[in-house]
Amino acid sequence: MKIFSGNSNKKLALKIAGKLGLELSPVEIFVFPDGEKRIRIQERVVGEDCVVIQSASIPPDENYMELFIMIDALRRSGAKSVKTMIPYLGYQRQDHVFREGEAVSLEVIAEILKAVGMSEGYAFDLHSPKIPDVFSVPLHHLSALPIFAERIRKDFKLEEIVLVSPDMGGIRRIKQISEMLGNVPFATVTKNRDLASGEINDSDLDGDVRGKIAIIVDDMISTGKTMVEAAEMLLENGATKVFVFATHPVFARDSAKLLQHSRIERFFVADTIDVPAYNLFPKLEIISIANLAADALKA
Ligand code: R5P
Repeated sequence: MKIFSGNSNKKLALKIAGKLGLELSPVEIFVFPDGEKRIRIQERVVGEDCVVIQSASIPPDENYMELFIMIDALRRSGAKSVKTMIPYLGYQRQDHVFREGEAVSLEVIAEILKAVGMSEGYAFDLHSPKIPDVFSVPLHHLSALPIFAERIRKDFKLEEIVLVSPDMGGIRRIKQISEMLGNVPFATVTKNRDLASGEINDSDLDGDVRGKIAIIVDDMISTGKTMVEAAEMLLENGATKVFVFATHPVFARDSAKLLQHSRIERFFVADTIDVPAYNLFPKLEIISIANLAADALKA
């Protein structure tokens, strides 16, 4: 197996390759003055099974384009198969038509990946379990929940915590991690978003958090507003402290500042996305999913 990395998350790619006892194979990514990229595979791949690791994090379009061209270059160079490890699958929240006239952007991504030659893919903590159905090649749904559960066991007394899903869409996820922790109780925040602006209109709490340490578990943090608003609601309803475990640190705009200054004690995220130095903040801790990714690729 040969592992190639795009530019979006080389740190994780190096770790995954290391866990597999491999080195990253060389690829030249040249940027023309107008921003176009030229990709050249610098190693013989004829008859080889190849993997490209690339997160579709900010800027998603650029990172996807790089991935598409890398897959094409590998196919043209004679690779037997090209798998993708897309730890954060960008565009996944656009997996169906919400309002008349919209595109299904995730389907566009899936079709391009297939067209350029992706044989199968892997992604972590998808927004919905139905997302692999959008793909006509296999997309394996991996999860950071087992390592989050391990960390919760280590850092907290289970009888003192309540798990919280910050929206209805996260219920399946919260039930899974509750089971991993021996059926720890959970609560749910229900939030309504304005479909045009994406802003949260109003929220409600279903479940009892009084006197408990609330641990919010979610798939991603983008603007951070979901977390901050959920935390305020939990504290208003008697939670003693709030912690967050979220797989993808998308960290759009000035979310890092918002999160650091929130009443949330600490944020645990996975390294599915490489957090740039300007978005690192004292309350943030990054846990690696490299082992899980390497195990999946080995299987
Ligand atoms: C949405 O339903 C997801 O599970 C996340 O809760 C959401 O995408 C987070 O977005 P933001 O950080 O912008 O509130």
